[in-house]
Amino acid sequence: MLTIALPKGRIAQETLSKFEQAFDEEFIFEDRKLILEKAGFRFLNVRNQDVPTYVMHGAADLGVVGLDVLEEKEYDLIKLLDLQLGYCKVAFGLIKGQELDMTKSKITVATKHEKIAKRYFEEKAMAVDIIKLYGSIELAPLVNLADCIVDIVETGATMKQNGLEVGPTIMESSAHLIANKNSYYAKKDKIFDLKEKLEAVIQWD
Ligand code: PRP
Repeated sequence: MLTIALPKGRIAQETLSKFEQAFDEEFIFEDRKLILEKAGFRFLNVRNQDVPTYVMHGAADLGVVGLDVLEEKEYDLIKLLDLQLGYCKVAFGLIKGQELDMTKSKITVATKHEKIAKRYFEEKAMAVDIIKLYGSIELAPLVNLADCIVDIVETGATMKQNGLEVGPTIMESSAHLIANKNSYYAKKDKIFDLKEKLEAVIQWD
């Protein structure tokens, strides 16, 4: 049995549909159930940010998580496969008409992605004040909490509807299949078989 932590919502559904193609089975979470067991798999329905925690602790052998989450937390996990879904980017959001003023002595950035933002400014040897927020990030520049934001952009609609423009991209992200290190060695055959089958599905798509 392989236990796989999936991030609630669209990415879980898209991942399960790849499993359906790979194994010719139907994988659907019943109503509000958080565990789905079928065909040698146990899927866990968890919050996006919690996926690496389940995998790190070995409560799940595998997980599906965005590259942005992995970069932000720098977990000691094995990155197995780019599932080529859940595409988004981590980018700056600026008040419409404004540009990122790199000459400013210090820039204030509101974000959920503290490490990713910090690394960007370190690489440019620029001073930055990071303000950690947990959601509704787009609000921060509108009420002078920050000069700009660093956030996930998928369609760009949230920024646009809040009077912001998408600025420079820091990183591109997509959902990746990750593995717990011990599981990777203990269940190598099963994991490799799964990886091969998913790779074949990804190639057809
Ligand atoms: C993310 C992000 C933006 C939005 C961007 O939030 O923080 O608010 O998606 O998507 P768009 O470019 O298609 O408008 P998410 O929906 O993941 O919710 P969260 O803030 O709870 O993480």
